[in-house]
Amino acid sequence: MKVCVIGGAGYIGSHAVYELIRDGHEVVVIDNLSTGLKEMVHENAKFYLGDITKKDELTNIFDKECEIKPFDVVMHFAAKLIVPESLDQPLEYYHNNVEGVRIMLEVMTEHDIKNVVFSSTAAVYGEPEKALCEETDKTNPVNPYGETKLASEKLIKWVCQKYDMNYCIFRYFNVAGADESLEIGLKKDNLTHLIPVTIQTALGLREKMIVFGEDYDTRDGSCIRDYIHVSDLAYAHVLGAKYLVENHKSLLVNLGSNEGYTVKEVINEVEKYMPVNYVIGDRRPGDPAKIVASNAKAKELLGWSPKKNLSDMIRTDMEFRKKNC
Ligand SMILES: NC(=O)c1ccc[n+]([C@@H]2O[C@H](COP(=O)([O-])OP(=O)(O)OC[C@H]3O[C@@H](n4cnc5c(N)ncnc54)[C@H](O)[C@@H]3O)[C@@H](O)[C@H]2O)c1
Repeated sequence: MKVCVIGGAGYIGSHAVYELIRDGHEVVVIDNLSTGLKEMVHENAKFYLGDITKKDELTNIFDKECEIKPFDVVMHFAAKLIVPESLDQPLEYYHNNVEGVRIMLEVMTEHDIKNVVFSSTAAVYGEPEKALCEETDKTNPVNPYGETKLASEKLIKWVCQKYDMNYCIFRYFNVAGADESLEIGLKKDNLTHLIPVTIQTALGLREKMIVFGEDYDTRDGSCIRDYIHVSDLAYAHVLGAKYLVENHKSLLVNLGSNEGYTVKEVINEVEKYMPVNYVIGDRRPGDPAKIVASNAKAKELLGWSPKKNLSDMIRTDMEFRKKNC
């Protein structure tokens, strides 16, 4: 396949590029490097500096590449994704995340590209009503970030229906870890997710961290959340792209762990390497005891389930961080 990866210099996109190249595909990366890093782009991928909210930039790249050989699939990772920032900058979030997708789809239709893989989020579910999120659950995002991803999903569905295209939409929660090569990984400062926060605390980059509540009805009293290793997630994108090319059918699936890990399990795993300075705080309002995503549909349609576990996520993230940060 010839695959265009938009946002391929970012955390998840760069891992998808690695997995695509390992699987023998031709990859073209388009990224504006707003949060991504050129050094994360695999040396065998072709790189274009470009912004998908600027139609002329995207059109020029598609004209050039499709004249050589049309893309079989376009993958989209090019979103802004920090929830508090989205509350502060709703206009910027809608512009980048939704207008960017609209322009991408327009350029795809103008070049007769039929398949799109879209990186969505479990944030589209909002505050889930049950512990195991399924694709049929109600969507009700509670912040502009989640809203922009849901709006993008809907836009993709309508455009695919009109232009006889196929989509593969993936929804996932927390992503962690680094490629086993340790060449790429998570390299950002303002990290808010539990695993990088715990590791930064262990490395002394944060003074301490707070565990919000230890009296939940879970195996150790702390909350259970869903974590997937970034390489598992990246490989799912390869499977999704192949599914579209081979089946000419659309799909929307969660990429979940089914089980999840508690906050204390994450801390214990990091403490196998270094102590973590943490305190127990009060519960945060609205925090459910457990939220994880079901992977039954991903298993059935793509034969996908996570191969790596929490210790792989912590080990690769720690090793990457020690080497690169
Ligand atoms: N990281 C997570 O835990 C998580 C969880 C659920 C869903 N997602 C989704 O996965 C995708 C990738 O997330 P990530 O963690 O790799 O983020 P990231 O910030 O590392 O990657 C995004 C990439 O897109 C590029 N980009 C942004 N806007 C662009 C534009 N207008 N034109 C061209 N390039 C642009 C950035 O420079 C960056 O390289 C996002 O769509 C996000 O919504 C991420």
